[in-house]
Amino acid sequence: LSLSVPPPQCLLQPFAIPHRLLLGPGPSNVPARIVTAACQPMLGHLHPETIEIMDQIKSGIQYAFQTQNRMTLAVSGPGHAAMECAIFNSVEPGESVLIAVNGIWGERAAEIAQRIGAKVNTIVTSAGRFFTNIEIDQALAKYKPVLFFLTHGESSTGVLHPIDGIGELCHKYGCLFLVDSVAAFGGSPIYMDKQDIDILYTGSQKVLNAPPGTAPISFSERACHKIFNRKTKPVSYFLDLNWLASYWGCDGKPTRIYHHTGPVTALYSLREGLSILAEKGLEKSWKQHKDVAEYFHTGLENMGLKLFVKEKKARLPTVTTVVAPPGYEWKEITGFIMKNYNIEISGGLGPSVGMVLRVGLMGCNSNKDHVDMILEALSDALKHCHKSKVDKLFQ
Ligand code: GLV
Repeated sequence: LSLSVPPPQCLLQPFAIPHRLLLGPGPSNVPARIVTAACQPMLGHLHPETIEIMDQIKSGIQYAFQTQNRMTLAVSGPGHAAMECAIFNSVEPGESVLIAVNGIWGERAAEIAQRIGAKVNTIVTSAGRFFTNIEIDQALAKYKPVLFFLTHGESSTGVLHPIDGIGELCHKYGCLFLVDSVAAFGGSPIYMDKQDIDILYTGSQKVLNAPPGTAPISFSERACHKIFNRKTKPVSYFLDLNWLASYWGCDGKPTRIYHHTGPVTALYSLREGLSILAEKGLEKSWKQHKDVAEYFHTGLENMGLKLFVKEKKARLPTVTTVVAPPGYEWKEITGFIMKNYNIEISGGLGPSVGMVLRVGLMGCNSNKDHVDMILEALSDALKHCHKSKVDKLFQ
């Protein structure tokens, strides 16, 4: 037989990646130290050195999440994989779950739970808002779920959700508390054990400044008890915690069993991202993100722009949502900034599409120089982008 598909011309050319400042909601820029870590020689995924790195990652996550949970590991995949890992393992078909929906991540969690045949109940609030503990208490009493899902940092709307007291409420009703902290983690305080969180996950590509593709996750003893006493097997083989526990050495057994071939070099970079966070210290990282975000918010308001989240304490320090300037086409603004400043910022997502611009300041990208750059770029964009005719009539 002869080949009928020739080698693609595009692959016969060298490829070049531009340098770009990534001030969108993620991925954020990867500092040289983490890039260098990922360029270390490839090892087998079960070689002793790789296992040692996995153990270091586990300790790094335990520090970063402030937890003693032995069931702590990194899923091979983005934050979405961790979301599926959490829900697939902790919920069986027919069980009642409660999902707090105040943006796209709650919507996604509800759909994932629906796909595995759970009885999905939601509490819903408009983009930019969060739930009170009274609202959550009432919904827990009404729906008697086995799991309550809450997004700590809603990157689609820019809301930082309060966490205090919710774990205790969940446990009062015999329910597990699952928190998505992909966007808030590292930029805002979270104490997994002290805040009674049963399952917590994040992603590598935001404050940790590692490339996308690994997702730290941790399960409390309470969560493990439910998961390891299921009547049915989780729908996903790849995300089955029985396998992952053994692969990550969380099951107390001396040998690790092959489950899948982990992303070895992505683990090097995750290790380095966690190492940078450990060297800096969590409290310093939280303060840095808060201070830089406040400096940014003041700059935006001084320019006459409005913040989408009204309540100051509910503003996510890692991803800021700015009300899309009236009369402008938001895509023209993001396009202008990309073309003229080589900076990525993004528009809305899910319920905030068309309503906001989103600016991420995460990890090494969270500094006042970047704030000054993006404020200048925004101000220039507002001068040069077109205001719609309708708006001009009213000027
Ligand atoms: C992704 O995490 C986003 O918020 O766009």
